[in-house]
Amino acid sequence: MKILVIGGGGREHAIAWRLLANGHTVFACPGNPGITAHGGTSIPGSDHLAAAREADVDLTVVGPEAPLVAGVVDQFRAEGLRIVGPTAANAQLEASKMYSKQFMVDTGIPTARFARVESVEDGLRALDQFPELPVVIKADGLAAGKGVIIAHTAEEARDAVRSLGPKLVIEEFLTGEEVSFIAICDGKGALALEPTQDHKTIFDGDTGPNTGGMGSYCDGRILTPEQSAAVLRTVIEPAVARLHFTGFLYAGLMMTAAGPKVLEFNVRLGDPETQTLMHRMDCDFGEILLAASEPGGLAGKSFSWKADPSVCVVMSAAGYPATPRSGDVITGIEDASEQQAVVFQAGTKQQGDDLVTAGGRVLGVTAAGTTLRDAIVNTYDAVSRISFAGAHYRRDIGAKGLKRWKE
Ligand code: AMP
Ligand code: GLY
Repeated sequence: MKILVIGGGGREHAIAWRLLANGHTVFACPGNPGITAHGGTSIPGSDHLAAAREADVDLTVVGPEAPLVAGVVDQFRAEGLRIVGPTAANAQLEASKMYSKQFMVDTGIPTARFARVESVEDGLRALDQFPELPVVIKADGLAAGKGVIIAHTAEEARDAVRSLGPKLVIEEFLTGEEVSFIAICDGKGALALEPTQDHKTIFDGDTGPNTGGMGSYCDGRILTPEQSAAVLRTVIEPAVARLHFTGFLYAGLMMTAAGPKVLEFNVRLGDPETQTLMHRMDCDFGEILLAASEPGGLAGKSFSWKADPSVCVVMSAAGYPATPRSGDVITGIEDASEQQAVVFQAGTKQQGDDLVTAGGRVLGVTAAGTTLRDAIVNTYDAVSRISFAGAHYRRDIGAKGLKRWKE
């Protein structure tokens, strides 16, 4: 098939890489230098409809949330073009935390206790309902993972209300393991991908400010089959049924002592979760995407996954997440790729003969191993071969899994 991938980050590079490996012809709009290096065709710009027509594709899949919220799926369908993703109306599940929390309450989907407020004054008053610290303050709109503050003192909580307000969700702090649970949905049914674990904060030990995600791992043991079935039944299927949801539904879960609770919904694949998912996937992703583009088309379909766990370590630019610096020359990607790692590119740009940094999260270095420990060693070995001025990465990606399974 000829498939268009909308987007140009690490997630889209991973999707393109998987589809290319499955023998499809891949276009990406706008794409990135990594996608081109792996054999895809980048179509610059942001006119996705024109790109789909120009490349005469059979199917389009959307990576990031922004085009979804802007209605790209509605637009393609109105033109009779096949696309995988949610409508703009359903993208509100990610675009508005207020909408999303209300949806969860209305649908009976388990989530943290919360208050919705629309002014800083109400927000400061609402803090009284959450006397236990820490307390979580979330901005209403899209914030690339950076609109959430976990306040450890009353003063921090008040500051967070002032800085993130006026439209806010304030909620109780939940404890447990965080899991990214993503399913592909066809408007009627859903098929779960393997659960993955992201690493949200910039520094080791889950410290420092939140980012878009600094690394992930995908290992068949993250949830038991029973736990996965329970999440499908209590979280994903009720949402799909109520919204006739199509595309990827991503539930950010906290596995609490009282069962899984939803921290957030996203309406797309995760980044960097997708890098580890695509690396471990062992079936034709294009065929599943095509099935998902028809109502009920996923019935009878299944994913298959390689046994070996995969790990992705994000290398970020100097200054990320506050003020990432651009223009630093990147070297060593070929060397890393010879070590059986796949280097997914995100914030990169070709400048003459040089590949340079051009965004916060620059690369997602991804590798597998027969054990999670081997996968971690292999990934960091590849990371050590890559350099650019100011490069930062966490040293503890996957460590939580090692601890949990006493590897
Ligand atoms: P969100 O964008 O809502 O997923 O929040 C970003 C990150 O903040 C999550 O991945 C969690 O690590 C953390 N977080 C959000 N809400 C809570 C909560 N209620 N309790 C504990 N941690 C949370
Ligand atoms: N890695 C988290 C996200 O994609 O939202």
